[in-house]
Amino acid sequence: MSAVPTDRSALSLPLIQSLATPDMAAVDALIRARLASDVVLINQIADHIISAGGKRLRPMLVALAGRACGGGGPVHHQLAAIIEFIHTSTLLHDDVVDESSLRRGRSTANALWGNAPSVLVGDFLYSRSFQLMVELDRMEVMRILADTTNRIAEGEVLQLLHVHNPDTDEAAYLRVIERKTAVLFAAGTRLGALASDAGEAVQRQLYDYGMQLGYAFQIADDVLDYAADAAELGKNLGDDLAEGKATLPVIHAIAHSDAATAQRLRDIISEGDAGAMAEVLAAIHATGALDYSRRRAREYALAAEEALEGLPENDALAALRGLARYAVERSH
Ligand code: IPE
Ligand code: IPE
Ligand code: MG
Ligand code: MG
Repeated sequence: MSAVPTDRSALSLPLIQSLATPDMAAVDALIRARLASDVVLINQIADHIISAGGKRLRPMLVALAGRACGGGGPVHHQLAAIIEFIHTSTLLHDDVVDESSLRRGRSTANALWGNAPSVLVGDFLYSRSFQLMVELDRMEVMRILADTTNRIAEGEVLQLLHVHNPDTDEAAYLRVIERKTAVLFAAGTRLGALASDAGEAVQRQLYDYGMQLGYAFQIADDVLDYAADAAELGKNLGDDLAEGKATLPVIHAIAHSDAATAQRLRDIISEGDAGAMAEVLAAIHATGALDYSRRRAREYALAAEEALEGLPENDALAALRGLARYAVERSH
C-alpha cells in the first residue's frame, strides 16, 4: 500500500528515511567498498569523516529523484556514491579553508591530522568520484559532473573573494551559494532522473527542484551557524563570523541597523572578529535577521516543491516534497 495519499502532501523525515532505507543501505555499502586505498593515511582520514555519517542527504536525493521518475538500482546507487564523495571532499577542503575544528560531531581531519593531509585526502575522494563516474561510461553523466565540480570550485573561490568584505550584498551571497552548494543538489536530482531515462523536460524539473532546495539548504545552514545547538549540529557555531563570512543573517543586519551599529558590524566582518559574537547576535536579533533568512529559505523550499508540479504522483515524489520542508526546518 502507498505510504501517502495521492495529494500534494509531503512525507515526514522518518517516513522519508524508511522509504529510502533499501537504497541507502546499498549506497552506504558502495561508499565503504570504494573508499579503500593501500595508503594507510587515506583510509584513516576517509574513514574518519565517512563513518561519522552525516545526513547523507545528497545521495538520498539521487535515489529519490530516480524513484520519483520510476527507476532505481545500481546505476543510481553509484551516482549517489559519486555525489557523496564529491560532497565529502568539499567538506575536507572547506574545513581547512574555514579553519573549523568540529564536523559531524567529531574533531575535523585538519584538527587531527593537519591541513596538508586533509586537502590531499579531499583530492583522493574527489578523484575517486571520477573513477566511479568513468565506470558508468556515459558521456552525459561525465559532462554534468565535470561542469558541476568546476562550478563548485568557482563558488569556493568566489566565496574566498568575499571573505572580510562588508559590501557583500544578498545578490552576491546568492551567487556564491548557488555555486558552492546548490549546483551539487541540482546535479544529483537531475542525474537521478537521467538514470531513470526521464526525458529532458522532467530532468529539467528535477534539476530546478535540486537547485532551489540547495539554496534553501545553505541559507538554513547559515542561520544554524548563529542559532543552533552545537552538540546537535555537530559543528561549532560562529565559524562563519570567525572567518569573516558575510552570510545572509549578517547581510540583513548590516542593511537594517542604525548607522553606528552597521559600521560596527562592517568592521567586525572586515576583521573576522569571533570575539564579537554577542554584539553581532544582538544586531541580528534586533533586525529580525534570522526570521528574514528563514523566510527566504522557505521561499526557495516552496519553489523547489513547485518545480515538481505535474509529475506523476508517487511516494518518492512526496518524499522529495518532504525533504524541501525538512531542509528549512532542520536543527542539524
Ligand atoms: C554541509 O552539508 C555543507 C553545506 C552545504 C551546508 P551537510 O549539512 O549536508 O553535511 P553532512 O553531510 O550532513 O555532514
Ligand atoms: C558549505 O559552506 C561549503 C561547502 C559547499 C563544502 P559552509 O562553510 O557553511 O559549510 P559548513 O557549515 O562548514 O558545513
Ligand atoms: Mg565551513
Ligand atoms: Mg555553515
